[in-house]
Amino acid sequence: MTKLKWGMIGGGEGSQIGPAHRLGALADGHFEFAAGALDHRPDAGRDYAQRLGIAVDRAYGDWTEMLAGERDRRDRVDLVTVATPNATHFEITKAFLEAGFNVLCEKPMTMTVEEGEEIVRVAEATGKICAVNYCYSAYPMVRQARAMVRAGEIGKVRLVVTNFSHGHHGDATDADNPRVRWRYDPAMAGVSGQFADCGIHALHMASFICDDEVEKLAADFASTIPSRVLEDDAMLNFRMTGGTVGRLWTSSVAIGRQHGFDIQVFGETGGLRWASEQPNQLIYTPVGGRTQIIEKGEGGLHADAQRLSRVSIAHPEGFPLAVANIYCDLADAIRGEVRDGLPGAADGVRSMAAVHAAVTSAGKDGAWVDARPPMFR
Ligand code: NAI
Repeated sequence: MTKLKWGMIGGGEGSQIGPAHRLGALADGHFEFAAGALDHRPDAGRDYAQRLGIAVDRAYGDWTEMLAGERDRRDRVDLVTVATPNATHFEITKAFLEAGFNVLCEKPMTMTVEEGEEIVRVAEATGKICAVNYCYSAYPMVRQARAMVRAGEIGKVRLVVTNFSHGHHGDATDADNPRVRWRYDPAMAGVSGQFADCGIHALHMASFICDDEVEKLAADFASTIPSRVLEDDAMLNFRMTGGTVGRLWTSSVAIGRQHGFDIQVFGETGGLRWASEQPNQLIYTPVGGRTQIIEKGEGGLHADAQRLSRVSIAHPEGFPLAVANIYCDLADAIRGEVRDGLPGAADGVRSMAAVHAAVTSAGKDGAWVDARPPMFR
């Protein structure tokens, strides 16, 4: 099968997420790395792209140059990944969709709900794919959890509890490090810091596994390092459309927690637990029965979990291969086979609506606020 052509914006040398995209996009042979505008410094971006094997005429200095350069090529890229800081996502994603490219945008997709709704509309109007990198949803055992909930294996879901709390921004003496600082600077990060950075992964995961949407929420935000304008810790209560009760804690000052992303789903006849630091296992307890470990790669998994388990049982698969699963589903979608579960622009705007609802709620002492984007009310 002919390889698809892939380009990336952002994710330059030393960036946090860039390597996961490169490993993920190239893992299964679906894509070749054909073009890039990888860095906010044009020369550094061109240089790094060429060191990664991109031809000199497709190693661009910035994204506008890349758009102009790729637009009229017969062998133009089939997919563009946007892995720049948050404030640039909307402009770049919209421009590439309008020019007829498929896009995988990093989260958060936009800074405002209005921008998010516009991306949904542009994607619909152009017929192009706009995916959002909620990559944790592509771990095989997260797909297994979703399939078990859908199959009624834990009954109606009563309660979902999720945390995405780490301690990597807990050192006040490091708060001015530019790679940390932008996340708490409204000009770069938007209206929310930690919740928009990590909390939305947890909220998306709750919706993904429960197969339901967040309807309303109540939030408490704190900036525990006083120089920070935006919150570095947040606690949310939420309710889903189907009545499920939700709890979410997200923090970047929880020193001692490393990645710190986990979720528990409690249904009428059973419970599930998954944690990103042990991603190959799903813990399942039927009511009145023994707790069981369901392992990636074992027999009898639901189809999606089986399909996305690459290596045999007990060989660990980790974060870059979860990102690779997003790229597998994207490659299938570009070739015409749309996969259930690929996070899209609708998920992106739902997250944005939740972020703005949480900011409003936190500003009103935790009042309950409608968390749905207007287009989905
Ligand atoms: P970073 O600060 O480590 O790297 C950003 C990269 O983008 C740098 O190479 C920088 O030179 C480049 N860049 C900045 N502006 C640019 C522009 N206008 N054009 C081209 N390149 C530009 O940031 P990090 O942590 O890699 O985050 C990037 C994005 O990825 C953020 O939106 C973040 O929320 C998201 N992210 C997602 C994760 C996930 O699990 N899905 C995990 C980590 C980050």
